[in-house]
Amino acid sequence: MGVFRAVVLSALLATVSVGQDAISADGTNFTLAGDNVSYLFHVDTESGELISDHYGAPVDDFTPPAFVLPWGWHDNLANLRREFPDVGRSDPRLPAIHIEHPDGDTVTALLYKSHQLVQGKPELPGLPATYGNDSDVSTLQVHLYDNVSDVSAVLSYSIFPKYNAIARSFSVTNNGTGNISIERAASFSTDFPNVDLDMIEVQGDWSHEFNRVKRKIDYGETTFRSTEGFGSHLHNPFFALVSPSTTETSGEAWGFNLVWTGSFEATAERFSNGFVRVLFGLNSLHTSIQVKPGESFQSPEAVSVYSAEGVNGMSRSFHDLYRNHLSRGKQTHKTRPILLNSWEGLGFKFNQTSLVRLAGEAEKLGVELFVNDDGWFGVEYPRQNDTLGLGDWTPNPQYFPDGLGPYVAQVNNLTVLNSSQPMQFGIWVEPEMVDLNSTLYNEHPDWVLHAGKHARTLTRNQMVLNVGLPEVQDFIINTVSGILDSANIQYVKWDNNRAMHELSQPSDSYNYILGLYRVINNLTTRYPDVLWEGCASGGGRFDAGLLHYWPQHWTSDNTDASDRLTIQLGTSLVYPPSAMGCHISKAPNGFNQRNISIEFRGHVAMQCGSFGLELNPEELTEHEAAAIPSIMAEAKKVNPIVISGEFYRLALPDNSAWPATQFVSEDGSESVVFAFQQKYTVKPAAPAVKLQGLDPKARYSNDLDNGTYTGATYMNGGINIQWDRADYQSKLIWLKKQ
Ligand code: GLA
Repeated sequence: MGVFRAVVLSALLATVSVGQDAISADGTNFTLAGDNVSYLFHVDTESGELISDHYGAPVDDFTPPAFVLPWGWHDNLANLRREFPDVGRSDPRLPAIHIEHPDGDTVTALLYKSHQLVQGKPELPGLPATYGNDSDVSTLQVHLYDNVSDVSAVLSYSIFPKYNAIARSFSVTNNGTGNISIERAASFSTDFPNVDLDMIEVQGDWSHEFNRVKRKIDYGETTFRSTEGFGSHLHNPFFALVSPSTTETSGEAWGFNLVWTGSFEATAERFSNGFVRVLFGLNSLHTSIQVKPGESFQSPEAVSVYSAEGVNGMSRSFHDLYRNHLSRGKQTHKTRPILLNSWEGLGFKFNQTSLVRLAGEAEKLGVELFVNDDGWFGVEYPRQNDTLGLGDWTPNPQYFPDGLGPYVAQVNNLTVLNSSQPMQFGIWVEPEMVDLNSTLYNEHPDWVLHAGKHARTLTRNQMVLNVGLPEVQDFIINTVSGILDSANIQYVKWDNNRAMHELSQPSDSYNYILGLYRVINNLTTRYPDVLWEGCASGGGRFDAGLLHYWPQHWTSDNTDASDRLTIQLGTSLVYPPSAMGCHISKAPNGFNQRNISIEFRGHVAMQCGSFGLELNPEELTEHEAAAIPSIMAEAKKVNPIVISGEFYRLALPDNSAWPATQFVSEDGSESVVFAFQQKYTVKPAAPAVKLQGLDPKARYSNDLDNGTYTGATYMNGGINIQWDRADYQSKLIWLKKQ
């Protein structure tokens, strides 16, 4: 303890601040300050413990903590708000870090040693993370040491003041002589005081992703996790804590998102004293990560955003932060080509002739990018259905006798309507998977994830390659490079259609994700001009880890426009609409037979950065065919504002028969409103659509009633839409600042 006091004393003499005073250290009292947030914690000078003080709206001072009666069974650490809780030493709550030491004991005492302030934000080796330069972000690194076990840790906090966002991660280094094992690792951990909170998260399943739910943070653990090896459709690595009175537009919201594609675990634990511990990190069932002497474990990053402007304010911070400081692809800020994807139109039934014919039909509609989805590959096991050929990435010679090059050239020979641009070509791959019926599996049965002699469970008839193995990583890099080098391919849809089931060790899942990041880092660096889209049976891997490398993700296999409103608005809780892929498919819809007008389907899909068609144009009705040119023109006009504008959820489909959304352009000069009537009712009348994000004093014209009103009128009075007497009506309204 004597040594520890000396360190604290020397630190007390210095008050250091960097990056527009975003971080200050008054001795060992640390303050991270954003435009509208303060995050305070300090070192307890007696013990060296890190203690949480405040996370929320701005404050100026450190004040004494809540008084908790120190008698009884639970005392000591149990009654402290801890910043990085470890195991043992009187805290019975779940820990952020759980280490098994070489002798099998699991007690850890990581105590303050020193700290440093860093301009900007250091990279996390091998992991996706937010980034920024010295004027965007400042970092505080707190060094901790466990004298008993010779384990050290560095806790890293980076604040992006403009976005009220804090990115946190940690590393643990084994300074001893035997292996240690990381059994639990929460990238984000803090203890809130005794305050009423609800948790908002998104739940669902395949074709039913991102359904927003809210529950109370009660005594005990409120928790959810993915044990699928990936984020999955069941949950997403995102949640928000909100005050019970918080709405979309007002009140406090704390958002949390893991920059990680693998299994995860999110917990809010309310203890007897009322404090709420927040933990967000790896799923402990898929951890047990060995760290050898001299080596370090680096946790993924978690991002937290604070908003005093309700849930939508939190979402807008995430959107802006992710577009500017997470997604690194060249295309992030670019408008996206309108595409036609072959999947729902042709399925597996095609050859070069029918594909080129489909591309020709797409040409007539104004499509800019033709995407050949599943089914184009396989020699010994041609991919005629989903039991065959995954892993064998050679074009099927029966379909493409001269390979992909000449076929793609035929597509490139088509010209985009009203322009001289060639039609672009894109391709589907699922390189992390293999079918039982494939040459690859015959040659490398040991490459798939499996556990000894246990049966290798199939899902969608396929198995998962162990991407943690360097030879599998190299195979994928070489295979995908080979495809991209063989033809003029400008877009890749990278699919992933099942979860991991049998692992030989829990950490296989963690190593897999690190391997995957190595692969896609390599490929996106080598092919920076390719537009990459992630997909996992729809939105099964829509996460911040992949968005670091790929600017967009297919949102859901469910293309029914009504279901999609719920799914897309749920996705927008954390991920920007610019990152979503959304397509118009045929009506009645293949999933639920719902018959929704082409206009409504178009208005739903064009709210996403990557808009397209997923149907066979030869099957369009006369009305649909006539409507498509103007829908394409509208989508083109809307795309820049979707890519870079601010997004507002005006009314949610689960609360209203008249959901609505709005984008405001970056410079504030225009705004576009999407309004929907899902269900016609005789009474009540539709409520006015109240807009947001406008300048209250400025005047804006609109093309609904051709009026010109002030921003205050649009926002406080709203606009009334005269709906037809029918279900599934939609309107797109443009506002222009005068
Ligand atoms: C997954 C994708 C679909 C489509 C099919 C092809 O389900 O989500 O969009 O690509 O695979 O098999």
